[in-house]
Amino acid sequence: MGTRKALIAGNWKMYTTVVDGCRLALDVAKTAGNFTDREVLIAPPFTILSEVAHVLAGSDIIVASQNVCWAEKGAFTGEISPVMVRAAGGSAAIVGHSERRQIFGETDELINRRVQGALAFGLLTILCIGETLDERESGKTFEVLAAQLKKGLASLAVADMAKVVIAYEPVWAIGTGKTASKEQAQEAHAFIRETLGKIFEKTVAEQTRILYGGSVKPTNIDELMAQNDIDGALVGGAALDAESFGRIIHYQ
Ligand code: 13P
Repeated sequence: MGTRKALIAGNWKMYTTVVDGCRLALDVAKTAGNFTDREVLIAPPFTILSEVAHVLAGSDIIVASQNVCWAEKGAFTGEISPVMVRAAGGSAAIVGHSERRQIFGETDELINRRVQGALAFGLLTILCIGETLDERESGKTFEVLAAQLKKGLASLAVADMAKVVIAYEPVWAIGTGKTASKEQAQEAHAFIRETLGKIFEKTVAEQTRILYGGSVKPTNIDELMAQNDIDGALVGGAALDAESFGRIIHYQ
């Protein structure tokens, strides 16, 4: 992994309201430990972002929004601005999650605007990419990943990439209990790293953190983190249980 600091991120999706969300955040903070080689991030629903940030104020845990608009403010019904995320105590945002792409029709172009907006307001930006089962089975995985990277990161400068994290989440592995094998994940991560080098330059490839997401559990985190190009995890289901998420944070 070289000098890249690991990042273990929990995406709570559309789960938790204020009482259970704050309890979960508190329990995660208790078990997170004080690592110097890894960071922990939680992305609660928008409605409890500020409460969770408040609960986590004394900890090093990063609070993220699950999506973010590009504009500071304006007529964007149903959206949340990067300034709002910051004011609520967040310092990061997930962008381009496959559920946004697949269920809500977000395109690479729209996602690129979100990435640019998040960066313009200083948010650590986690850009999610990943192929569907159909795409994998028809041999298009690399083509899809390269296109999502190129379009998602369009117009960014090398310096912007210091605040960008890529999350590789094969759609077929999300919420299905089907994890990509460590070999499949490593292969995709190595390809993503190589592509970042082509889009930007070698230092970007070396320094950008690439997280794996899709049925990450306490039982598979160790072997995933042992791969050269896997720098962390974006965890869904297992992040909703403090004990499981704690174990994932404490990967070996
Ligand atoms: P699961 O860990 O539930 O498969 O979800 C992965 C995910 O989508 C994280 O963003």
